[in-house]
Amino acid sequence: MNEERPDIIDVDEWVREGSRSPIQTMAAYREHWARAEADPDGYWLAQAKQRVQWRKQPSYGLEGNFSSVRDSPIAWFGDGELNVTESCLDRHLETRADKTAILWEGDEPGDTRSLSYRELHEAVCRCANALRELGLEKGERAIIYMGMVPEAAIAMLACARLGAVHSVVFGGFSAEALRDRVRDCGASLIITQDVGKRGSKNIPLKQTTNAALEGEHGVRKVLVFQRDPSVEVEMKAGRDLWWHEAVDKASPSCEAVCCAAEDPLFILYTSGSTGRPKGLVHTCGGYLTWTAYTHAVTFDLREDDVYACVADVGWITGHSYIVYGPLCNGATSLMFESIPTYPEVDRYWDMVERHKISVFYTAPTAIRVLAAHGEGPVRKHDLSSLRVLGTVGEPIDPAAWRWYHEVVGQGRCAVVDTWWQTETGGHCITPIAPATPAKPGSATLPVPGIMPMMVDAEGAPQIGPAEGRLCIVYPWPGMARTVWGDHGRYVATYFDTFKSMYFTGDGARRDSDGYYWITGRVDDVLNISGHRMGTAEFESALIAIDEIAEAAVVGYPHPVKGQGVHAYAVLQPDAGDDLDAIGKHAHAAVREAIGAHARIDRLQFVPGLPKTRSGKCMRRILRKIAEGEPERLGDVSTLADPSVVEVIVEGAKPFTSR
Ligand code: WT7
Repeated sequence: MNEERPDIIDVDEWVREGSRSPIQTMAAYREHWARAEADPDGYWLAQAKQRVQWRKQPSYGLEGNFSSVRDSPIAWFGDGELNVTESCLDRHLETRADKTAILWEGDEPGDTRSLSYRELHEAVCRCANALRELGLEKGERAIIYMGMVPEAAIAMLACARLGAVHSVVFGGFSAEALRDRVRDCGASLIITQDVGKRGSKNIPLKQTTNAALEGEHGVRKVLVFQRDPSVEVEMKAGRDLWWHEAVDKASPSCEAVCCAAEDPLFILYTSGSTGRPKGLVHTCGGYLTWTAYTHAVTFDLREDDVYACVADVGWITGHSYIVYGPLCNGATSLMFESIPTYPEVDRYWDMVERHKISVFYTAPTAIRVLAAHGEGPVRKHDLSSLRVLGTVGEPIDPAAWRWYHEVVGQGRCAVVDTWWQTETGGHCITPIAPATPAKPGSATLPVPGIMPMMVDAEGAPQIGPAEGRLCIVYPWPGMARTVWGDHGRYVATYFDTFKSMYFTGDGARRDSDGYYWITGRVDDVLNISGHRMGTAEFESALIAIDEIAEAAVVGYPHPVKGQGVHAYAVLQPDAGDDLDAIGKHAHAAVREAIGAHARIDRLQFVPGLPKTRSGKCMRRILRKIAEGEPERLGDVSTLADPSVVEVIVEGAKPFTSR
């Protein structure tokens, strides 16, 4: 029993020494789940008070519900006040000031830096003071466009310290994509760096920022971290400042700005079914509670863990499970600048051995790439420090799961296949490392407080074993509250499809043990190597070039990337017949509109798209053709011109015949 807070956890006898998690057994899991269902307010208030440091403790939990979300947004801990950096930094100064907070592994193996909680606190305060000096105020937006350097986390936390709202844009995005995001959130400041480093290549972050800001007037200041002094970049007088000049001289103490629990902490853009990415808004109190709780519980976090999530801070995984969750829990969190195959395919395992990593969190696509190189590169290293292995981002096939479990984990580590989304803030369906019996390929069971519902296409609830669309019927503290500047779009995207439910956009199967098997998106969102992109974003890039009249983009199963991109393009009558040149132009257009991480795998020129008589493109047909199943097209009789299908099937053969 927890003597100090008897109200909070009455299953503490299950807590292992040094563990932050009260859920060590299935009995404890069931008990927590039942309590969170019976009394969500009580359960989450207790967690919020226990895991987060408040200026003013909240006295109640949830306000709002999924039926009225259009008029009154969901809120948790509404009367609480806090600054999230006090949970992530200040309070650790008493107990773990010299513990490593961020352990950085640079692009070159062994190029490492480590920042203790004391040093990180100082660095964040300096940066916050510099940002304040540059005029950044509470509620204003700052874009962070950086690579994987500790300064990216420092910049996020410095914004949070001031109550400013950060929006991290993944360093792979193009100038155009960056400009869209700057405009959409009305950013007044950008934090970037000269170049990013990935696999010995330079990513021209400052150059891209300059291009994005051409003709833009909203951004007053650009703060530039210098990663490589040997690279020259163009600095605009009056607008651009070097980090080492502005930040290093700033004072190392900075009073944190007090925020309301529901003040926005950050905006993160993600792709949906339209060409325009949406900025999901996460708020301070609920998000921090959710990430701290799930980070501790899913991974069974221990005080002496070396925890490594090798994602990028440009995605939600980096926000929740490199920065906010781990730092709130006082963990040692590794940041990795490079890629899994540089300089060799044993890079991850080399890092595990050198840093004695105990919890390792990566994406199925990386596992598939590395598994293709066999056991040799893994066996070269001592991986005995590993205890928990996590995956996220896409379904993991049982073969990759087994390789991860048997070869990397040597059969003794728990594998947690964590299902969640940018929108959910943190884990929603996942094994709990010490408790949940795994099934390879299944994300298993819902986190306490998550109430999934499987529905059919009409929204009818499915009871027991079933296949259908995955919804969640009750609010949880970590969920995104709105789409920045467009609450109507938030409601339309997530709450209009099925009445009074949050619709995830994913399909799933539930087996007779109640385990969930996520089958993938049922909307027009693609998941390519764990990167989320909308088919509409590809399509609008394609039709923007002169030679292309119409385009339709679909995903198809890809052995390594999870999904590949198949683009069907209809040429303009006067496009000419140099298909090679048009193809090059099309690829460049996509790269410019989205970024280097967006690539069309198959570009097929077609005489027309399969359309109904009312002019609606039948994407289902195009998907089947790309999947190499032209014999399973279903009914094509409603098409305006069924003959076009035969030509498309014929033209797809070079791609789809194996
Ligand atoms: C989509 C969310 C969650 C952080 C990284 C991606 C897919 C995610 C799993 C999983 C099967 C998964 C879903 C989801 N997804 N995790 N364990 N098993 N699918 O975040 O970019 O918001 O993408 O990724 O389709 O909807 P995201």
